[in-house]
Amino acid sequence: MIENEDEGKNFIKKNLIAYSSLYGCTEEIALKIKEELEKSSMRTEIVKLNDKEQFNSLFNQDLSQFSSILLGSSIVAGNFNKKINKILAKLESISLDHKKFGFFVSCLKASNPDKIIEAKNEYINSNLKEYNLKFSIVDAFGGKLDLSPDSSLNFLVKYIIKKKMLKENPNSKKIEPKIYDYRDWQQIEKFTSTWLNIIRNG
Ligand SMILES: Cc1cc2nc3c(=O)[nH]c(=O)nc-3n(C[C@H](O)[C@H](O)[C@H](O)COP(=O)(O)O)c2cc1C
Repeated sequence: MIENEDEGKNFIKKNLIAYSSLYGCTEEIALKIKEELEKSSMRTEIVKLNDKEQFNSLFNQDLSQFSSILLGSSIVAGNFNKKINKILAKLESISLDHKKFGFFVSCLKASNPDKIIEAKNEYINSNLKEYNLKFSIVDAFGGKLDLSPDSSLNFLVKYIIKKKMLKENPNSKKIEPKIYDYRDWQQIEKFTSTWLNIIRNG
């Protein structure tokens, strides 16, 4: 009985996952988190910020309707997607009472577990400190890179990425022409269950 009442309450709350993904890696993470939230009866809206129409539609909405907002982005050339900055600036201007914020990135640096903290500081914390927003959870996940012959990345980008991969993972001797998937789904599951607790008790 009580369980059902709680589920009802959770369903009234609206949770947002807004992400940017150029090659699909961050998108798969965001969709997995959404699936898990919905399994726990959390009403969840998901928006792809680097889709112009989806971004505009979200940006023109009243963001205070969401009780929690989870932002996610891939890192390209050291930065997360600029659309995230626009959402952060807009969030600063609304009433934040009882709202929960979370942030995650997928990136090459976090492919090395020893560098996850460095990735969080360099790509998330250093940028978020510019905003007057309190984040309950942030995390950096290893990314996915397609260096296979069928990849859409051009020769120069592949070359730069290979150099970066050798720098982040000094133990690797040679980078093969294949798809590298560095995501640790246990880390993502742990993040999701922590986020679920945060928004459930918020
Ligand atoms: C052109 C390019 C630049 C990148 N720059 C960085 C970087 O500066 N730091 C990093 O850690 N990872 C970097 N990456 C790795 C991506 O962040 C990683 O592959 C991510 O999982 C891609 O996610 P997406 O498929 O959602 O776009 C770069 C990848 C590409 C293709």
